[in-house]
Amino acid sequence: MQSSIGGFCLKMTICLLLLLTISIHVNGFFVKNCKVVGSLNKSNTLKVFCTRKGLYTVPEKLPYRTRVLDISRNEISKVMNNDLLHLSFLTNLNMSYNQIKVVEEHAFRNLVALQQLNLAYNKLTTIPDRLFHNLSYLTYLRLDENRIAKINPSVFLPLTSLVTLNLSGNSLHRIQEVQPLFTLPCLKDFCIRSNGFYSFKTTEVSNTSLQLKTLDLSQNPLKVFSITSNIFPDLEILDLAFISRSMKWDVKDNSFLRNVKRLNLNGIKMASEEMKVLLQTFSSSLGVLKLEQIGEEKVKALVEPACISNSPKTLQLRFNNFTSISEKELQLCTNVTMLDFSDNKVQNVSILAFRSMNKLRILNLSHNKLKAVPIAIRNISTLEILEISYNNMTKITRLDFLNLKKLLTLHVYRNDLRVVEDFAFQDLKNLRSLIMSSNKLLNINVKLWFGLCKLEYLQLASNKLSWIQRGDFKYLQSLTRLDLDDNQIQMIAIGAFDGLVCLKFLNLQSNKITQKSISSSVFSGLKRLQTLQLNNNYISYASQKRLKRPLFTSLTSLKFLSIYSQGHNGMMNIPLNFLEGLNSLRTFKARNLNIDSVHPLTFAPTPNLTFLDLSRNELISLSSKVFMPIQHLTRLSMSKTGLQSIDFLRKANLTEMQMLTIQKNALSFINDTVISSLPNLVYLSMEGNVFSCDCTNAWFIKWAEISNNTQVLNADQFKCNFPPKLRGSKLFKLDINSCVVDVEFYCFISSATVVLLTMIGALLYHFLRSQVVYAYYILLAFVYDSKQQRKQKADSFQYDAFISYNTHDELWVMSELLPQLEGEQGWSLCLHHRDFQPGKPIIENIVDSIYGSRKTICVISHHYLESEWCSSEIQLASFRIFDEKKDILILVFLEDIPTHQLSPYYRMRRLVKKRTYLSWPKPGKDTQVFWQKLRVALETRVAEEENFIL
Ligand SMILES: *[C@@H]1O[C@H](CO)[C@@H](O)[C@H](O)[C@H]1NC(C)=O
Ligand SMILES: *[C@@H]1O[C@H](CO)[C@@H](O)[C@H](O)[C@H]1NC(C)=O
Ligand SMILES: *[C@@H]1O[C@H](CO)[C@@H](O)[C@H](O)[C@H]1NC(C)=O
Ligand SMILES: *[C@@H]1O[C@H](CO)[C@@H](O)[C@H](O)[C@H]1NC(C)=O
Ligand SMILES: *[C@@H]1O[C@H](CO)[C@@H](O)[C@H](O)[C@H]1NC(C)=O
Repeated sequence: MQSSIGGFCLKMTICLLLLLTISIHVNGFFVKNCKVVGSLNKSNTLKVFCTRKGLYTVPEKLPYRTRVLDISRNEISKVMNNDLLHLSFLTNLNMSYNQIKVVEEHAFRNLVALQQLNLAYNKLTTIPDRLFHNLSYLTYLRLDENRIAKINPSVFLPLTSLVTLNLSGNSLHRIQEVQPLFTLPCLKDFCIRSNGFYSFKTTEVSNTSLQLKTLDLSQNPLKVFSITSNIFPDLEILDLAFISRSMKWDVKDNSFLRNVKRLNLNGIKMASEEMKVLLQTFSSSLGVLKLEQIGEEKVKALVEPACISNSPKTLQLRFNNFTSISEKELQLCTNVTMLDFSDNKVQNVSILAFRSMNKLRILNLSHNKLKAVPIAIRNISTLEILEISYNNMTKITRLDFLNLKKLLTLHVYRNDLRVVEDFAFQDLKNLRSLIMSSNKLLNINVKLWFGLCKLEYLQLASNKLSWIQRGDFKYLQSLTRLDLDDNQIQMIAIGAFDGLVCLKFLNLQSNKITQKSISSSVFSGLKRLQTLQLNNNYISYASQKRLKRPLFTSLTSLKFLSIYSQGHNGMMNIPLNFLEGLNSLRTFKARNLNIDSVHPLTFAPTPNLTFLDLSRNELISLSSKVFMPIQHLTRLSMSKTGLQSIDFLRKANLTEMQMLTIQKNALSFINDTVISSLPNLVYLSMEGNVFSCDCTNAWFIKWAEISNNTQVLNADQFKCNFPPKLRGSKLFKLDINSCVVDVEFYCFISSATVVLLTMIGALLYHFLRSQVVYAYYILLAFVYDSKQQRKQKADSFQYDAFISYNTHDELWVMSELLPQLEGEQGWSLCLHHRDFQPGKPIIENIVDSIYGSRKTICVISHHYLESEWCSSEIQLASFRIFDEKKDILILVFLEDIPTHQLSPYYRMRRLVKKRTYLSWPKPGKDTQVFWQKLRVALETRVAEEENFIL
């Protein structure tokens, strides 16, 4: 065995791998399972997000300056005294949707800055006595949807700043238990919905007046509601939805609840007579009255008295199963400005239904069963917003929107519209937004839009449009946004968008557009266009050749272009002048286009590009020249592109890069030179690569843990791919201490040696000038000589080839390969079962065999790829390649293996791409040529291979 440094390193590596221990030192930006946002230095912004990570405990080693911590939606069951101990800067803590049963008494002791605390949707049954002791800045507390059946009210007394408290969805039964909470000095919003409270009496709450503004008592089985003194003078919102059927309403003075502005009586089941009494307790001009989920008949009987005694401005009548609206119900509701009738089953609306509502501004009739636009709507000259989506209308006539001169917004999506008559919108001179998506419109024409001179937003997505003609939108001179996505558009005539002088946003994605159906003149005139979406179409190019007429030359203001996912086969190529004219482009999204290279001139027209997405293409590698014109890039996404190295970034000089996304590539290690070429990197996202768990990644692991500027997202989840023994285990569990020590040790030794030699040299030179010159010549001779020797060594290998194969292929090796190569051709082969020295450690045997053979032949089959390719044999062989800079691997394919199946074996794929390899002929075919080629491969000597570098 040759004791080269390479061999030594290998052995070191192997030993290290056997000595794995768990050790992670966390500082800086790295928090296991979490994403950290903000900068460690500018501490007032630091936020840590760890939602939905399957955590069972509070994450460790949170940066002590964390301001916001979100650990909601995990499986945490216990919060311990020490978990949050050091977070004295924390202002916002979200622990909702966990399984928390226990919070230890001192868990929040040091959270002296805390303002918001969310413990909703957990399994708390009690609250420890001293839990809130130091939370004097807390303003917002959620304990809803737990299992709290008992509280010691004094627990809440330290919360002297508390404004909002939510205790809904627990198992509390008596108001006396929560009484002290009402008297917290700052409390304004108190929610005790959905508990077991069976009575609410002011005598049990307080005898002085309180500041409460919102009180939610809904979904409690209240039998008594008794207000006998004026303790809620400021109450504005009162929620009594779904209280018990037989509640006793006992409000002594009609002035006590006079300031209530919003009253929710959804699902109320009291008898009509009592309801009238109840309504009279409230103001004669209520802001909002909700009467939902009560039922058609009952509501019809209630609306009139409510409008008489409360004259509400907003009336919400959803989910009542109304089938019709007659002229009677609403005739006294003259002050209503917003009427919400959605989610009913309305089919018929009387012509006079809204006659007396001469202040109506907003009308919502969506989610009903209307077959046409109700005639009652015509002439409501005050109407500003009309919502009739989710109905069953098939047609809009030119009379439907007559005289709606103030209408600003019209929503008619999700109907069955097939026809819109010409001039249907001509009275809507003020309309800003028209949404007609998800209908069945087959075509449009210029006359439809006549009169819409102020329209800014037109939404026609998800219809069945197949072409756009010249000037179709020419009346829409104020339009800024046009959505035509998800249609069948195949043909866009030249001048289709003529007249859209204000258009900023155009969405054409998910249509049938090909490179032929859009020409450069299609977009002419769109001088202000900023965003163009062309995803999911059929644009495709056979080559990168320069286009005669590039598409976007007139879009000089375009900032955002998205063209991902084209056609059945992808776009295939980006023509080198595809982006010509897009001088203002900032974002280019080109994922999933089935392109395998990018021409270095592609981005020359777009010097201000900051975000480039090339993910899910077959790029494998990119030239750094591609990035030369786009030095302001701050975000680059290249996930799933088969990258084997990101060394191209080193020369690309992307000093402004902030976020690099390279997930699911074939990267096995990251070195410091690439990272140091990205001085402003904030996020590095590279999950799902094929990491090598050895000292090659020692630097990376260390850096990811301590970097204060860059966060390696989900670094703790990175999995090892090599060595095979560690496949699937976590990269960050690798013990890198020994690697670091080695490097330092070598550095120490080498620098010490240099210093020593220099000193000796200086001394020698001083005392023995002539002898030194003589020694120098001797040294030269020695170097020359050893070079010669090494050349000779090439001929003094013990074997000609080491055969690496899987036991499944042993038959072929023994019956075909061995007789031919050893018998016929006379090579000496090394086979592990035959030639390994018994008693010697297996690794040493392999090392000796590879270094003792001139070549290594890999017999490749599916079995081989699965079990041997990443084995130590191959790693050793490739290290020898590095070591000696010459090719020693000969690949023999026993079976047909399509290249895409090779993609997980990136090193193999690369070899196959770069070099010729040998395939064993199919059964019955002649094998002569194969053996001849193998002979040539084995004969090839060092001289011819010197330039090959893997
Ligand atoms: C409305 O009708 C549905 C189904 O017919 C029924 O389940 C629901 O309870 C009704 N709602 C009211 C408020 O009556
Ligand atoms: C409508 O509101 C005005 C002023 O707020 C009030 O004077 C009038 O009585 C209200 N009309 C009805 C029918 O309640
Ligand atoms: C519209 O009406 C048809 C029958 O006329 C019915 O099958 C369909 O479900 C209705 N759609 C809606 C959204 O009510
Ligand atoms: C690039 O951006 C800068 C500043 O945002 C601007 O001054 C310059 O005109 C832009 N270049 C082009 C070609 O649009
Ligand atoms: C890299 O970029 C910096 C500034 O962004 C510039 O000064 C330097 O010349 C560039 N280097 C190369 C090799 O392009």
